[in-house]
Amino acid sequence: DEQSYDFDVLVIGAGPGGYVAAIRAAQNGLKTACVESRETLGGTCLNVGCIPSKALLHASELFEEAASGELAKFGVKLEGASLDLGAMHNEKATAVKELTGGIAMLFKKNKVEWLKGRAAFTGKDTVDVDGRSVRAKNIVIATGSSVTPLPGVTVDQQVVVDSTGALSLPKVPEHLVVIGGGVIGLELGSVWRRLGAKVTVVEFVDQILPGFDAEVRKEATKIFKKQGFELKVSTKVTGVAVDGGRATVTVEPAAGGAAETLAADAVLVSIGRRPNTEGLNLEAAGLSVNGRGQIEVGHEFETAVDGIWAIGDVTPGLMLAHRAEDEGIAVADNIAGLTGIVNHDIIPSVVYTHPEIAGVGLTEEQAKEKGEIKVGKFPFAGNSRAKTNRDTTGFVKVIADAATDRVVGVHIISSLAGTLIAQAAQAMEFGATSEDIALTCHAHPTHSEALKEAAMAVTGKAIHI
Ligand code: FAD
Ligand code: NAI
Repeated sequence: DEQSYDFDVLVIGAGPGGYVAAIRAAQNGLKTACVESRETLGGTCLNVGCIPSKALLHASELFEEAASGELAKFGVKLEGASLDLGAMHNEKATAVKELTGGIAMLFKKNKVEWLKGRAAFTGKDTVDVDGRSVRAKNIVIATGSSVTPLPGVTVDQQVVVDSTGALSLPKVPEHLVVIGGGVIGLELGSVWRRLGAKVTVVEFVDQILPGFDAEVRKEATKIFKKQGFELKVSTKVTGVAVDGGRATVTVEPAAGGAAETLAADAVLVSIGRRPNTEGLNLEAAGLSVNGRGQIEVGHEFETAVDGIWAIGDVTPGLMLAHRAEDEGIAVADNIAGLTGIVNHDIIPSVVYTHPEIAGVGLTEEQAKEKGEIKVGKFPFAGNSRAKTNRDTTGFVKVIADAATDRVVGVHIISSLAGTLIAQAAQAMEFGATSEDIALTCHAHPTHSEALKEAAMAVTGKAIHI
């Protein structure tokens, strides 16, 4: 009966999905608790994901700028720039601490109770949290994901690391071999390359950055190679042997052929992430996972069992923090009887390398499959602010439906791509045409003018090219 519920909403996991769901549920007037087994709130993203990786990306970019001498042409002369890796790690840790502590404060402010411990279902509305039985009217599974292991390769977090280990290497490796040319491999590979490591990326398929627009992937390949990355595509790792703090990585062509070995002092395994459901005892709730280990949900984030909901990385879809957050808001609104919607067609993806690589909506390949399109492209070499900053790498590509002119995809390579893509997402969310963007006044001189010009290029009428 209603009276015996401990909570209206129990959220399992305090990552960007779970903590946001918990706060919104409380805002909606529901008695809410959130179970989290980590020492701090914020999940993968705040503790060992988005935040510490961006902290190191920022700091390593500053280091490279200072140490490479590239600032000299601006009249900034720096001699003898040197690395204090300990200080860099400390500054990263401070950012993580402030942000995870911030979530604890938001929980207090919103009266969300943090149940510290591991949750396991004991029934469809009951959960065991380290020996305490908790009953809730609604349960939101937001348990996230963890690193996919590579069979036969043991992560020791010393020589062979996953993303968590790669965020806190105690010294700069001479040679870092990255297994998997996806987002993590390129972001964390960039960090250590900037700090002085030689970086070799071994990628199984024939291109880096799965899921991105083909032209973007091709251009990104050129850029990363120019930066000094060694990219071995269509190549598989068949073994990693560790001896005395060094690794020997054996690789061979993906299609089969002669093997070759790479000597490395650090190996990063970054071949993807998989959903966390182990130990959750889903069977007790009457739930099961799909072939990829994910919990399937409907439009409102409801699972197959009434009163149980799921969001974020543990469900099918892009494994991104902002998607999890938006789903957290939507599910809490749906639980409260409001209308919570996430438009999964318009979720931006950003790779925070330099330059950044960002996309939203359909790739050109996907768009062509759906129908007739028009494409407008504008290079940053034609953008006055990028030229002023001596920062002209990249382009903007706007893809519009040929018949309606509606924008169906935008792809950007630029130092500011991650910020610029927000405007594209908003335009698409509003159903904008490329003409709408072309007719919107953009401030001069800004990088954002390149988006306007790419929209103008859809009709072949960009000005600065
Ligand atoms: P998570 O953040 O994984 O949180 C789930 C939480 O649930 C965890 O804290 C876990 O301890 C807890 N939990 C699990 N099971 C239980 C249980 N049984 N009982 C109690 N607690 C439990 N995404 C971006 O959008 N931008 C980025 O820049 C970005 N950078 C990344 C960098 C790295 C190195 C990594 C690894 C990931 C990055 N991501 C990034 C992905 C992002 O971190 C995830 O998409 C996001 O954290 C998913 O949120 P979530 O709430 O679904 O799960
Ligand atoms: P990923 O899916 O982005 O890339 C993995 C890569 O490894 C793919 O290119 C794949 O072809 C390759 N691969 C798979 N098996 C392989 C093998 N045996 N040998 C060699 N290559 C192999 O996964 P990644 O980089 O581990 O990141 C996991 C997820 O975390 C991302 O998909 C993303 O959702 C999230 N993330 C997001 C970030 C962002 O938004 N900026 C940053 C970091 C992570």
